[in-house]
Amino acid sequence: MALGVSATPLTFVVHALGVSALVLVLVWSIYFRGGFAWEATDKSLIFNLHPFLMVLGLIILGGEAIISYKSLPFRKEVKKLVHLILHAIALALGIVGIYTAFKNHNETGVANLYSLHSWIGIGVISLYGIQWIFGFLVFFYPKGSPALRSESIPWHVVLGLLVYVLAVGNATLGYLEKLTFLESSGVEKFGSEAFLVNFTALVTLLFGVFVIFSVISQGPVEEEEDDSYSSI
Ligand code: HEM
Ligand code: HEM
Repeated sequence: MALGVSATPLTFVVHALGVSALVLVLVWSIYFRGGFAWEATDKSLIFNLHPFLMVLGLIILGGEAIISYKSLPFRKEVKKLVHLILHAIALALGIVGIYTAFKNHNETGVANLYSLHSWIGIGVISLYGIQWIFGFLVFFYPKGSPALRSESIPWHVVLGLLVYVLAVGNATLGYLEKLTFLESSGVEKFGSEAFLVNFTALVTLLFGVFVIFSVISQGPVEEEEDDSYSSI
């Protein structure tokens, strides 16, 4: 059911949107919110690490990992390794990013896990971890039998896309929540910071949309190797 268009131009759009999303998050965090810190008396600097690490990790590196089969000009085995490593970095940054939100809450006496965003966030990071472990065991080491691998691939792809869509959706909830907090403590509703945050959320969302478009379009033609599946 792949779309009859080549994935290559779509993957360029993904890269461009990824760089834009990262620049926008950095401008927001550094110029408007005062930058980053691991230890500080101003605890909001610890919080600022949260959106930055989540967007860089789960969203951008996670998205680049997903499209690596479509965007890279290498052999399948090499692309598999890049896919696995980028997802591992994304997962690690996601875990540290969530830790910074907890750290900020604990050091400011705010309750943990009270919001829809935080509940979905715990679901996303748990599913992402499970997906990575299953992917590793079935497709990399010790590797399942050929029958198990070919039966697992459609599940791996569909569940991988599902957890990724949930991550992108949850990031937009996070932007909305943070901006709502800021607006209730004085940030103007139609001011430049509010526009910047909403545009950052839109670019993040578009990045996710183009990741999905890339996955369901035509990848480079390659020789059949093990672990192949015809694109959904
Ligand atoms: C996939 C991306 C994301 C995931 C998985 C995620 C996950 C989480 C989790 C688990 C918490 C709870 C921390 C606690 O209870 O102590 C949290 C808090 C928070 N996050 Fe995110 N987050 C993501 C992206 C973002 C983004 C992009 C923003 C934008 C600013 C954001 C804003 C917030 C805010 C304001 C809080 C504190 C309030 C609350 O607990 O809901 N998050 N996040
Ligand atoms: C949380 C981590 C992971 C997520 C979200 C994920 C997601 C995905 C997605 C969406 C695809 C479809 C790509 C496409 O058709 O263009 C895919 C393909 C694939 N993934 Fe993963 N993956 C993860 C981890 C892993 C790991 C650790 C391995 C181990 C090697 C792996 C092996 C594969 C293989 C073999 C394919 C099939 C590629 C093809 O035949 O075109 N994945 N993955």
